[in-house]
Amino acid sequence: MAKQVKNVEYGLEKIFEGAQDFLPLMGTDYVEFYVGNAKQAAHFYKTAFGFQSCAYKGLETGCKDYASYVVSQDKIRLVLTTPLDAKSPINAHLAKHGDGVKVVALWVEDARKSFEETVKRGAKPFMEPTVEKDEHGEVVRSGIYTYGETVHIFVERKNYKGVFLPGYTTWKSEYNPTPVGLKFIDHMVGNVGWGEMNQWVKWYEEVMGFVNFLSFDDKQITTEYSALMSKVMSNGNGRIKFPINEPAVGKKKSQIEEYIDFYEGPGVQHIAVATDDIIKTVKELRARGVEFLSAPPHAYYEDIPNRLGKHMEMMNEDMNEIEKLAILVDADEEGYLLQIFTKPVEDRPTLFYEIIQRMGAKGFGAGNFKALFESIEREQEKRGTL
Ligand code: FE2
Repeated sequence: MAKQVKNVEYGLEKIFEGAQDFLPLMGTDYVEFYVGNAKQAAHFYKTAFGFQSCAYKGLETGCKDYASYVVSQDKIRLVLTTPLDAKSPINAHLAKHGDGVKVVALWVEDARKSFEETVKRGAKPFMEPTVEKDEHGEVVRSGIYTYGETVHIFVERKNYKGVFLPGYTTWKSEYNPTPVGLKFIDHMVGNVGWGEMNQWVKWYEEVMGFVNFLSFDDKQITTEYSALMSKVMSNGNGRIKFPINEPAVGKKKSQIEEYIDFYEGPGVQHIAVATDDIIKTVKELRARGVEFLSAPPHAYYEDIPNRLGKHMEMMNEDMNEIEKLAILVDADEEGYLLQIFTKPVEDRPTLFYEIIQRMGAKGFGAGNFKALFESIEREQEKRGTL
């Protein structure tokens, strides 16, 4: 497993030993969803999650095949895309997977070189380097497939001043719910099939130059009924973190298997978004109708001082509030973290969100896995998929 060579906040310098420099990534550029009704999905993200209207492309801008709404909150940019006729290839994706993440776009200095370097190392091409222009300048994009039908698009926007991408117009709306304090994407998790995790770990190492900096086996991520395995991949500067999960054998069905069954293949399982004030953010999200997984038993909260150890004195969040909101707390060597998970945001039990506040901790809440999975199992039980 890769060693973190420097304990610094993520800058452009390399903090993971062993990461390769051929694909410098500056951050997540956008996440694009294929959905059945982008207009309604955009309304949901504004109303429930506090995203702001940003950009639009559709019939009114001369795009006849699909409509895309871009919503943003601080550094997070989501694109919601829907086909406008039966001929669109997006329909096949929707029929198979339901609403879900199609594109995890990465911000790069050079999209041509990113394509060349990754394809040379074995990536399957999705989009040859393409230049798009309008009166605000030009953007170069290219893309490769990752797990399932999910793709990475490399976005080079150093010569562009427009609102999003060429072809998009500013989306001005009279309906502007306030943001809820979501700041940036902390990590995005992929679910892959039985026995496929190591193959994708190798793919991220060889094709993208990433390193594996944390691993959890099925002994660590297990409850009485189900299990999974996970390896966390990171790029060199730590800005992009992709944990990869695969199901493991348990007495009952793993939540990863449930996802694979309903998504009909590998795909993005959850998007973790960072906040500076999880109590405020979660209160706001709950008031707006966002549904979270149920709280662990009271004993979980009584055990927090044990779990936090020396970090307990740093913690100044109100413990009653934390328990009332069903927020989970975990710690590692460097600090603690607070996190909570939503229920799936579609009818298929597929994609969900994590809200995370890091107070020094660099991990993923391993101490919470058991409580979290028991909570997911209660949902699976209701769905008849455990
Ligand atoms: Fe997560």
